[in-house]
Amino acid sequence: MHDGIQSQLVDAASSVIQSGWFVNGEAVTAFESEWSKFLGTDCCVGVNSGLDALELSLRAAGIGNGDEVIVPSNTYIATALAATQVGAKPVFVEPVASTHLIDLEQIEGAITARTKAIVPVHLYGQAVNMQTVMALAKKHDLFVVEDNAQAHGAAWEGQLTGSFGHANATSFYPGKNLGALGDAGAVTTNDSELARQIKMLRNYGSEIKYHNEIIGYNKRLDEMQAAFLSVKLKHLEAWTVSRQAVADQYLSGLEGVGDVILPVTQPNATHVYHLFVIRTNYRDDLAKYLNEHGIGSLIHYPIPPHLQRCYTNLGHKKGDFPIAEELANTVLSLPIWPGMGQKQTDLVVDVITDFFNQV
Ligand SMILES: Cc1ncc(COP(=O)(O)O)c(C=O)c1O
Repeated sequence: MHDGIQSQLVDAASSVIQSGWFVNGEAVTAFESEWSKFLGTDCCVGVNSGLDALELSLRAAGIGNGDEVIVPSNTYIATALAATQVGAKPVFVEPVASTHLIDLEQIEGAITARTKAIVPVHLYGQAVNMQTVMALAKKHDLFVVEDNAQAHGAAWEGQLTGSFGHANATSFYPGKNLGALGDAGAVTTNDSELARQIKMLRNYGSEIKYHNEIIGYNKRLDEMQAAFLSVKLKHLEAWTVSRQAVADQYLSGLEGVGDVILPVTQPNATHVYHLFVIRTNYRDDLAKYLNEHGIGSLIHYPIPPHLQRCYTNLGHKKGDFPIAEELANTVLSLPIWPGMGQKQTDLVVDVITDFFNQV
């Protein structure tokens, strides 16, 4: 994926090395303004990772001990960990199985007097209905942090994800649609005071060197990663179109094959296919068969957060979130990357079809 842009990345690295400035400098400021311009938000704060972006968003909003934060029951662990790290309790809400996205109709049932925030996740690259989330948040006076780690460039009713929430957290982990060459993340917001707080939190609680206003952290974005991200951002739209073309090939090629359940995109959403996730009751055997034919596949995610050992303190047990558990047992992510050719997609489709002809 970096083949065509290798020399641009090397040039970007060289100019950072020549600048002699490696943390929180011009490259970070430049990328921050490019990312907020891309999303249409007023402010952007680059940080060290997606988890940091989520955590600092919640922390800057004053969420902490004794508070509750609503998260989907089928998300990547980081969404829940961010709540835990600020001292709050993650409260899980089941997804809609067909879209894998948080079930908006179940959110109100999970709200208590302690609820302070909702963190919707645009899982696998599909936009959550953010209009409804924001309306619910307004009604119950809740803070919204979009977890946009998997959905760079996705939109709900034409507006990009990462621009609806009071704060929007993203990851630029290398495998993401816009990935750095190491860890990186960012928060976008239209609230300049919130952005100022997050800027201080990421930098030892300081705005002016050696003057520390609040208890802060070191969660800054490196210059090198910001410079790489600026190079790669220019290609994001083309890469998205390419991913969507691969997904269309899978959607038509796998229609009606075996018991495969294909991902469903809501009418007002776009899907940028960070992952192309199918479901089948033969998941493990199919993954093995694909592997025997030289095709890698992955499971996102095999254990839902409420059943992770780190969350035994929450007191959940098997059966508490049956949809998340069912998804964890049946989901399989097929290979997808920008530039994956029709031949490669056809091969995956053919091997899956062969598998189901034999079961
Ligand atoms: C949905 C989601 N949220 C949060 C994260 C955390 O991002 P990071 O790995 O950059 O901390 C990731 C990715 O890793 C993710 O997929």
